[in-house]
Amino acid sequence: GEAEAAEPSPRIAVIGGSGLYELLAPSERIDRRIDTPYGPPSGTITLGDLDGTPIAFLSRHGAGHALAPHEINYRANMWALASLGVRTVVSSSAVGSINPDMPIGSFVIPDQMLDRTTRRASTYSGGGLVVHLPFSDPFTPDLVAKARTAVRALGEAVPDSGTTTVIEGPRFSTRAESRLLRESGGDIVNMTQYPEAALAGELGMGIVNLSFVTDFDAGQNLAEAVDASVVLDRLRAAEPRIIAALSAIVAAIDADYRPPQLVPAETIRAILTHTVAS
Ligand code: ADE
Repeated sequence: GEAEAAEPSPRIAVIGGSGLYELLAPSERIDRRIDTPYGPPSGTITLGDLDGTPIAFLSRHGAGHALAPHEINYRANMWALASLGVRTVVSSSAVGSINPDMPIGSFVIPDQMLDRTTRRASTYSGGGLVVHLPFSDPFTPDLVAKARTAVRALGEAVPDSGTTTVIEGPRFSTRAESRLLRESGGDIVNMTQYPEAALAGELGMGIVNLSFVTDFDAGQNLAEAVDASVVLDRLRAAEPRIIAALSAIVAAIDADYRPPQLVPAETIRAILTHTVAS
């Protein structure tokens, strides 16, 4: 009908991490409640314009940060975005640094990942559907390159590479765990970038992540040990920079951009029509 046709059809979604619960002005957005075969997403998905580009916005932890990292329904979140026709996900995360060259207050746009999570539903495989996602580049390489250029153009320093390590949480790491992650090649640590990136790939969506360093992780002997209130204070102070960086990344993605497809089209169709049980 006409009401449906008038609704913006965003090709880009922004997922807000800790500290970023709203991105679009309430007067200029449409709130959509979307149910999925996996249950409800973290909250309503809001449709609106970010500096002239139609986007869908989802707060990962829900309104008021009600969901801990292990409670987030990642499959519902990513399925809901894909069902709207989203092709590219721009996600934001608060991260701890385990690399002295990536200081507190700086941005990292990661290109590699060590998944250290242990108990998450992290695939749409099941019920007869088998998906073997190629995951050598967990974030879409051309989007990562575009995003780094766009954020540098704001005057921000962004390193040429970044390996993110994703822990199960919700607790922070021990000193020994933190040292192990560093020795394993990690640069930053967080609790939510997996399985988001893998699920985006299974659904045929491209994904790029903007990480903001809020602390030096335990065991790095560089500063005080991480603590959640410090993380939130630093995020609040940096909110204008984070929003500017997200806007610049969104603006750098062409309106007709199509990400490389890593799984067969019929697999994506099967997931989205949910013709298999799981
Ligand atoms: N998010 C922000 N800081 C973090 C840390 N040090 N470890 C895991 N997740 C984080």
